[in-house]
Amino acid sequence: MTEHYFTQSPESESNEQEFVDTFNGKELRFVYDASVFSKGKIDKGSALLVQTFIELNSNLSDKIQMLDLGCGYGFVTVAITSFLDVSMTSSDINQRAVSLCEKNCRLNSVQSNCIQSDGFNNFDKLFDFILLNPPIRTGKKKVYSILKESYNHLNDNGELWVVIRVKQGAKSMKTYLQSFFSSVDTVAKKGGYHILRCEK
Ligand SMILES: C[S@@+](CC[C@H](N)C(=O)[O-])C[C@H]1O[C@@H](n2cnc3c(N)ncnc32)[C@H](O)[C@@H]1O
Repeated sequence: MTEHYFTQSPESESNEQEFVDTFNGKELRFVYDASVFSKGKIDKGSALLVQTFIELNSNLSDKIQMLDLGCGYGFVTVAITSFLDVSMTSSDINQRAVSLCEKNCRLNSVQSNCIQSDGFNNFDKLFDFILLNPPIRTGKKKVYSILKESYNHLNDNGELWVVIRVKQGAKSMKTYLQSFFSSVDTVAKKGGYHILRCEK
């Protein structure tokens, strides 16, 4: 049986492979593996999330604390830190994903503090920005609890940025987020994906 990408300690045989792709005019290299989201390509939703974030936040400093929540092999981490000078933390429930994220940071000469954690269980820190391509396959209840936990781990006026497909419930997720964030704006819509910027 194929393992879920959100398995904590994957037991499937490792089969590391590498791909090169151009993002925002820059060549990036990634190693990916079995039982880790996503295989051999940049996810379109994550690309739109990072592209939109970079366009709307060009002047950040290394004092800015950012979290790539559910980092997978580390696309969001590597792409953001290749273009913005921020202090990055990357976390995932999947230990194999966390190891790949560390490896991909080294491959692309960028830095992040990579942590294995189910949600925020293994670290207690507040962030200015949290970026999330949510693990839809874990189910609505789990995803919504991660959204609520994210709110609790933001500084005052901190922002959660989420990518969600229209057909995966963008409208109802926005309504849920509006029930506790002070403002929620749809800052980009492309190819069936919406980018939600949620301000605490
Ligand atoms: C849709 S993938 C996005 C991966 C990566 N950000 C990317 O853009 O390629 C969601 C990620 O969330 C992780 N995840 C699932 N449940 C989690 C949890 N409870 N805590 C932390 N990460 C989780 C999965 O392992 C997966 O890597």
